[in-house]
Amino acid sequence: VQPDVVTDVLIVGSGPAGASAALALSTYGVANMVVTRYASLADTPRAHITNQRTMEVLRDLGVEDEVIAKATPQHLMGNTTFCTSLAGEELGRLRSWGNDPLVQAAHDLASPTRMCDMPQHLMEPVLVDAAVARGTVLRYSTVYKSFVQDEFGVTVTVEDRVRGDEYTIRAKYLIGADGGRSQVAEDAGLPTVGRMGVAGSVNIVFDADLTQYTAHRPSTLYWVLTPGATVGGIGAGLVRCVRPWHEWLIVWGYDVTAGAPDLTTEYAESVVRKLIGDDEIPVTIKSSSAWTVNDLYAETYSNGRVFCAGDAVHRHPPSNGLGSNTSIQDAYNLAWKLKLVLEGTASPRLLDTYSAERAPIGRQIVTRANKSIGETAPVFDALDLLAPQTPEQLHANIASRKDTGAAAEKRRERLREAIAFKAYEFNAHGVDLNQRYDSDAVVPDGTPDPGFDRDPELYHQPSSRPGAKLPHAWITSGTRTLSTLDTVGKGRFTVLTGIGGEEWVRAAGELGLASVVIGPGQEYEDPYGDWARLREVSDAGVLLVRPDGYVAFRHAGAAQDAGRRLSDALGRVLGRG
Ligand code: FDA
Repeated sequence: VQPDVVTDVLIVGSGPAGASAALALSTYGVANMVVTRYASLADTPRAHITNQRTMEVLRDLGVEDEVIAKATPQHLMGNTTFCTSLAGEELGRLRSWGNDPLVQAAHDLASPTRMCDMPQHLMEPVLVDAAVARGTVLRYSTVYKSFVQDEFGVTVTVEDRVRGDEYTIRAKYLIGADGGRSQVAEDAGLPTVGRMGVAGSVNIVFDADLTQYTAHRPSTLYWVLTPGATVGGIGAGLVRCVRPWHEWLIVWGYDVTAGAPDLTTEYAESVVRKLIGDDEIPVTIKSSSAWTVNDLYAETYSNGRVFCAGDAVHRHPPSNGLGSNTSIQDAYNLAWKLKLVLEGTASPRLLDTYSAERAPIGRQIVTRANKSIGETAPVFDALDLLAPQTPEQLHANIASRKDTGAAAEKRRERLREAIAFKAYEFNAHGVDLNQRYDSDAVVPDGTPDPGFDRDPELYHQPSSRPGAKLPHAWITSGTRTLSTLDTVGKGRFTVLTGIGGEEWVRAAGELGLASVVIGPGQEYEDPYGDWARLREVSDAGVLLVRPDGYVAFRHAGAAQDAGRRLSDALGRVLGRG
């Protein structure tokens, strides 16, 4: 039977994973099509924290400036506040999302980009518009129903919700980016670990001018410790800024065993009033929806010609803001591999490295995000709010931190420590940037894994060891200042070397690879000496960098047989070795 539509890559879903897969594939010139269930993109803010690694990906894909223009900037994100309500008592703050001066310095050193707050309903149009402008075919109101795959491709049946009929799409590869209830992942039989529905949460989106309670302590998140806030959900009532300081989203828990509450406007208003703590403020409820906290990851991300990405393969709470970030990074890892296999440059074996590289990351972030929920409990505990008590007792316990005497001093100290410990959720720079890959698309250089000097969740540690992301350093080219990351990407392999590395450059040319020479009098210079300090190879050494900015191979110095070494390394990465 002839399929109705033919494409190279069919993507199910237009969320962060599907939209960025489409954008990357179209940028690389790969024919692709997106089908998505609804008649529009995300209509609520949902994901928002956008970390430096994601911004690097968006920079390579040419949409960084547009995201910066639409996002709330980093300096307005960082006074994570703990309080009894926005109008009520403030219990403490944490400088977060890189706004602590020491962490800010680490951010500046780690990347040419800045993290920002880009609500998902603004992010998706940027990704999708750019993808469509570059060639993606997009079909709204189109639901994935099933697939069958054979040696040469995948035939997918979809339902057109406008016409009410079904048709088939034939693709060489299928990407299931269909979110936390992924039918594609289920049909592909991807093995999963963990469980869904661990706790219940409600999102309430509303308009209210809260300038008087927030502008003096600008933040993305205000955590409200109030009786009932510990039930289910994310560990406290949360007031999240969507647009400073008039559009908001509240996250509030419910007892998952009792089922979601009836989401009437009255219910939504009562929660909003409780967390704002000022009944005089006019509030307009825009929407309410219930969702569950999940704790589940897939052990394998692919089955034959079917690949899953995003929440389809890692499902976890919003803590640490990792969901859409990881989804976009999954897509970026997969897209260049599909491109090289489809054009015949790489063996299909390269595609196996997608799961090998990304599944360990998924497991790590699911574990981290769920752990972060539990780590809010000490904040409650420091104030003696965990035991069942009357609201009056709870308020008295909160007030007791203002007492004199040793017990109150101890309480203040425990509260400060508990809030500071939340750095693992709000300043986990290492979680964002220390992803290392170990797969057949990385050629070990025989050096032992140096591990991390400091806590790998909190602190980023650059490395040029194969499997690490190329370190960022500011270099120059004439009057232009650019990042080392700006010299790689764009869907190509790139060779980086310095003075004395002529053989590597020649070899790169023979293999059709881009090459970058950094040193005095070269096309690129290293006036600050930053690159020399970070590169971990000598001037005449080499780094072979993959299209996704990861180091595939390195050699410490010059080599007589540079051509053979480079072509062997490339062959191994491409699955031809
Ligand atoms: P996503 O669910 O976004 O998209 C799935 C897509 O598939 C949709 O377009 C859907 O319509 C489509 N689809 C589903 N089934 C289909 C079918 N059968 N046929 C066709 N199409 C189908 N993350 C983060 O990084 N930072 C953050 O700060 C937060 N904060 C946050 C807050 C709250 C309250 C929530 C609920 C979630 C977050 N997240 C987050 C998580 C983030 O929203 C989530 O991880 C991403 O949206 C996942 O992106 P995906 O593209 O994988 O799935």
